[in-house]
Order: sequence, then structure tokens, then C-alpha cells
Amino acid sequence: MGKLMIDGGVPLSGEISVHGAKNSSLPLLAATLISAGRSVLHNCPQLSDVDTACRILEHLGCSVQREGDTVTVDSSEMSCSEIPESLMSEMRSSIVFLGAIAARLGTARVCFPGGCELGPRPIDLHLSALQQLGLEIQDDHGYLDCTVHGRLKGAKISLSFPSVGATENILLAACTAEGETVINNAASEPEIVDLANFLNSCGADIRGAGEQSILIRGVDELHSAEHWVIPDRIVAATYLSCAAATGGELFVRNCCPEHLDSVFPVLEEMGCKLIVGRDSIYIRAKSRLNPVKMVRTMPYPGFPTDAQPPIFTLAAIANGTSVFVENIFENRFKHVSELLKMGANIKVEGKVAVIQGVPVLSGANVRAYDLRAGAAMVVAGLAAHGRTTISDIQHIDRGYERIDRDLQQIGARISR
Ligand code: UD1
Repeated sequence: MGKLMIDGGVPLSGEISVHGAKNSSLPLLAATLISAGRSVLHNCPQLSDVDTACRILEHLGCSVQREGDTVTVDSSEMSCSEIPESLMSEMRSSIVFLGAIAARLGTARVCFPGGCELGPRPIDLHLSALQQLGLEIQDDHGYLDCTVHGRLKGAKISLSFPSVGATENILLAACTAEGETVINNAASEPEIVDLANFLNSCGADIRGAGEQSILIRGVDELHSAEHWVIPDRIVAATYLSCAAATGGELFVRNCCPEHLDSVFPVLEEMGCKLIVGRDSIYIRAKSRLNPVKMVRTMPYPGFPTDAQPPIFTLAAIANGTSVFVENIFENRFKHVSELLKMGANIKVEGKVAVIQGVPVLSGANVRAYDLRAGAAMVVAGLAAHGRTTISDIQHIDRGYERIDRDLQQIGARISR
């Protein structure tokens, strides 16, 4: 397994570009199954999770071609409705293929995704919503055997929590169902809007994506389409954190600033100067950041759970005490043990972390326990005095296409 080595303490400066959103690309790739033709996705990042999604498509009988950031999927010959455990277990979010396979073939067999590094990852909301659309689901020793008798049927579905994955599964299953589907308390993340936009360009009739209630009028069939994946808002937030942690000055290009509206006030409270353009963000950080009173992760448009670990790391070197509350995942403070090795002063009680900022972190050997905890280690390593070595960086590579090369270009002393 690879490692990243960072010699920290260098203020970053220059320009950095953001790649397409991982969390959009995966459901979009699943959506290419329904259109039963040759769809083209541009700005699709070259990440291991995207590779896994492409392998799932190939396993199902699709032809997949990749040229740089463009992926072409021809799903016209799709024949298989089962995803083997080996592929499902590589990526918990592969459950989003369930709605798409069921919509296309009327039958699906996928294994139960189980827990993951962020804690238990239940799919009860996905399954109950798909059952309301007429999918019969049987648990066969950890496999979900799913069948539709006739066609899926539109339904009124109220989610008890605005789950991103469940909302995506419903969109995928309902767009070719018979009749109307209404999702109440739907997730409103930008990735939901991106998926609905793609499905609509394939001929679906989805209204209200990005709002709490989404109306889907089922159509008989979809056709293929070409689509540009939205920029990755979490990569943008990570690069802003890298600049902030080093007292740097950075232009983050090719991003969608409106997707980061809940992150900007936190960076400003920490004393960063921001200039927000149409598709770029300029940040200039002071040499010692201010603490932040309270950050609570929430469903969109609240503060994103995925941005919590990198921004949390800024609080570890701020001039005072900050409080972070993690409301989405049980196990999302895995960066804390590693920050402690670097000299941070943090207390965690359940979902609340109290961070007493220290003047400086010291380089150490640390581990990327999961994707965003790994991003937090990069931010910490850039800020720290001395050398930080990060192991298990395959987690970081799941979400950042070229983090070492990108950061080198803006002055970071980082190597792989
Ligand atoms: C979540 C994040 C998403 C992020 C992604 C990857 C939220 C609301 N969602 O999406 O922004 O990009 O992780 O890190 O921030 N839950 C259930 N039953 C279900 C489904 C979910 O209880 O059937 C619970 C989960 O345990 C969790 C919460 O709902 O506590 C968030 O779930 P959900 O939005 O579905 O997660 P993801 O789709 O993975």
C-alpha cells in the first residue's frame, strides 16, 4: 500500500482545479443502465470508486469505455441482474445500482452492504421505498433477491430522514414506473439535482429535485444522453482547508461555489478572506486561525458531513476552543486519534468534539482510516512542523484524483 509523505509548514499559493464529483458520478453511472443505449458522461473523475462502478456495469453486460475524464456506457446489451459480493463490498454505495437494475430488468440480486468504516450503514429506507414502488424483496442469506411483477408502480413515499442514497434509488426506480411518484422529505443535495438533470435529459419527467418534495411522472422508456458531472464540492472544501491550514492564498477553479454556502461562514469565522466568483473561489488565510463556535453537520443545505474532517483539522490549530457536532454518521471522528498523535488537544464525547487549538502540530506517522479522515491527515500534514507520513492512502485515492500532484503545483512538499 502506498504512503504520502508531507514536509509541512509551507504556505500554499497559486491555482488549483477541482475534478468532477465522485458522489454524483456513481449514481449517474447506475442511471446509464436505465437508458438502454449509449450514454456519455464527461468530467467523470478517475477514481477507484468510479472504476468499481464501471466494473459493475461491465459485469452486468454493458460496454464501458473511458478516455480521460469521459466515460461512455452502452447498456443496450445489459443482461445480468446480479452484482457479486466481491464488487458490492468494494464500495458500500453500490446499493444505488439496485433501483436501476430493477427498473431495467424487473429483477435484481445484490448482497446486503453491511457496515463500513463510518459505522453501521443501514439501507432500510432504500428497501422500504423500493417495496412501496412494488419491488418484492427477499433476504436470502445476506443476498437481496428482488422481483417486480409486471411494472414498478408510482407511490407516495415519505422518508423519515432525507437519505441521499434512498432518494437516488427512488429516482432511478420511479422514472420508468407506471404513474406518479412523490418523494416527501427527499434529500436535496446537489448530487440529487445532477442525477435528476441527467435522467430528465434521457426523457424522464422529474420535477422539484433540490427541494423537499420531488414529483416523478413515470415514462415508458428513457433514451441515452450526454452529461457533464458537477464539480466535487468536497474536493473544493478540502483544497480551501489546505490553504487555510498553511496561512496560504489560493484560487480554487472549476468549482460550483453555491454548493459550499454552508462552508463559507465557517472559514470566514476562522478569519479567512474569501472572494466567491461564478465558478471559482479565492481564499487568503491569516497565519493563526480563529476558533469556530459550533459546527453541526446536517443534510444539505447544512454543513456537509464529508467536509467535517478537513475543516475540523483547522480548528485543531486555531487560537481557542471550537465545538463540532457530527449528526450524520456515528463513526466520523477517526481523524481524531491521528491528530492527537500530532499534538492536537481534542476531547470527544459521542457525537460532540471539543477542540482546544494548539499553536502548531508536529509531523508524525498517521493513518488514513477512511476517505475524509485521510483528507484531514493531508491538511494536518501540510500545516505541521516536520514530516508526516500517511499510510493506507488507498482510502484517499477513492475520492481525490491527484491530490499529491495538485498540491505540489501550489507549493506543497508532498510525495507518494
Ligand atoms: C451520505 C451523506 C452524503 C455523502 C455520502 C458519502 C448526508 C445526509 N448524506 O450519503 O452527503 O456524500 O454519505 O459520505 O449527509 N440511514 C438510515 N437508513 C437508510 C439510509 C440511511 O438509517 O436506509 C441513515 C444513515 O445511517 C446515516 C444517515 O441516514 O446516519 C445518512 O444517510 P444517507 O444520506 O442515506 O447516506 P449516504 O447516501 O451514504
